Amino acid sequence: MTRVAVVGGGQLARMLAPAATAMGVTLRVLIESGRASAALAAHETVVGLPGDADAVRQLLADPRPDVLTWEHEHIPSTVFDLAAEWRVPTRPGREALLFARDKIAMRERLGHMGLPMPAWRAVETEDDVEAFLSVHGSVGVLKRARGGYDGKGVRIVRSPAQADDWLSAAAAGGPALLIEDRVAYTRELAIQVARRPSGEIRAWPLVESVQRDGVCAEVIAPAPGLSPTVQAEAESIARRIADTVDVTGVLAVELFEVGGRLLVNELAMRPHNCGHWSIEGSVTSQFEQHLRAVLDWPLGDTAALAPVTVMANVLGGSRTVLESAWPHVIDPGAKVHLYGKGVRPGRKVGHVTVMGQQVDDVRGRAAQTAAVVRDGGQS
Ligand SMILES: Nc1ncnc2c1ncn2[C@@H]1O[C@H](COP(=O)(O)OP(=O)(O)OP(=O)(O)O)[C@@H](O)[C@H]1O
Ligand SMILES: [Mg+2]
Repeated sequence: MTRVAVVGGGQLARMLAPAATAMGVTLRVLIESGRASAALAAHETVVGLPGDADAVRQLLADPRPDVLTWEHEHIPSTVFDLAAEWRVPTRPGREALLFARDKIAMRERLGHMGLPMPAWRAVETEDDVEAFLSVHGSVGVLKRARGGYDGKGVRIVRSPAQADDWLSAAAAGGPALLIEDRVAYTRELAIQVARRPSGEIRAWPLVESVQRDGVCAEVIAPAPGLSPTVQAEAESIARRIADTVDVTGVLAVELFEVGGRLLVNELAMRPHNCGHWSIEGSVTSQFEQHLRAVLDWPLGDTAALAPVTVMANVLGGSRTVLESAWPHVIDPGAKVHLYGKGVRPGRKVGHVTVMGQQVDDVRGRAAQTAAVVRDGGQS
C-alpha cells in the first residue's frame, strides 16, 4: 500500500484525502489537535506539532510512508533531519521549501534568476525604511519574511514610524522584514505547475485571484481576457522556478499584472487557494496532482473542463451558519466545500465552486451561494 505522510492538519490536508482515497493511497497526517480540519478526513492521524520529535517519529514509523510532504511551509529543520534518519524522502525538499518559507530568501533567489518582481530591500532600522520610501513615492509594502498568511504580516507604510513595532519585534529576534514598492497592478494572477522528481512539469491555466482586505475572496479560471503571451510568460516563469529550485509537488506563483507585464509576488510549494477551482474545474485537481508529483507518478491532464470556473471563498462572519445552511443551497450547480473549522471573522471556513459559460453569471452564482453558506443568505 502506498502511503503519503503530510505535516499540517488544515483544509489543504483535508482536501488531499478524497484524492488519496480515489488513488488507493493511504494518507497519514500530523494534525495539531483532534479537532483539526483534516482529522476526520485523513486515513491515519498523529496528533502533535511539527516541532514535537516524538510525534514526527510516529508520523514516519512503520508501516513507513513512501514520502513526506507539507500543507504549509513552517517546517522546522528537525523534521527534515528525522525524515533523513528514517530514510523517508521529503518533497518538496528542504532547500526548495526555503524559498516559499522566507520572503527575503525568495526575493534574493528570484533576483539571481533575473525574474521580474517589485523593487524591494531587507530593512532593519527606521533609516532603512526611510531610505526606501524616499525613492519609491513615499509608500511601501512592509512584509514579515516568515510566518505570514492571508495578508497577516503585510502592511502598507507611509512613514518609518509605521514600521516601528515590527522593527522592534524583528530586532528582538522576531521575523525579519522587507519592504517592497507598492505595485499599481491591473489585477492579481496566479499560475500553478506540478513537477515530479524525474522532471515532468504540467501547468494549469493562469487564473485571476481577487483579494478583499488582503485575503483571497475569489478565483476565476482561466483569468478573463488573457492574451496567449501572458499565459505563456507566466508558465515560463513558473517552469523556470520549479526547475531551478528543484520543486517537487505543486508550486503556485502569485503574480501582479501591470499593463501586460508580470511581476512575481510570492511562491507557495503546496496545494494553494488559487487552485481549489481545479477540484471540479480541471481534469486533474491540484490535490491529486500533488500526490502524483510527490510520489513521482505520471502527472494528470491539467485542462479546464468548462469555459469558466469560479471559486468563492467562504470567510467567517458574525452569523456564519455553514452546515445548517445546506437546506438553503438551491443552486444545483454550486459545489460547496466546508472545512470543519471553527468560525472566526475573516477566517477561511469553506469555498464554493461554480462552472459555466459566462464570467459574470458564474461569478454571481458563486458569490450568491457563498453568501448563503456564510449567513444563510440573510446579508
Ligand atoms: N508589493 C506589493 N504591491 C501591492 N500590493 C501588494 C504587494 N505585496 C502584497 N500586496 C497585496 O497584499 C496581498 C498579500 O501579500 P502576500 O501575498 O505577500 O502575503 P501573504 O499573507 O503571505 O499571502 P497570502 O494571502 O497569499 O497567504 C497580496 O495578494 C496583494 O494583494
Ligand atoms: Mg500571497
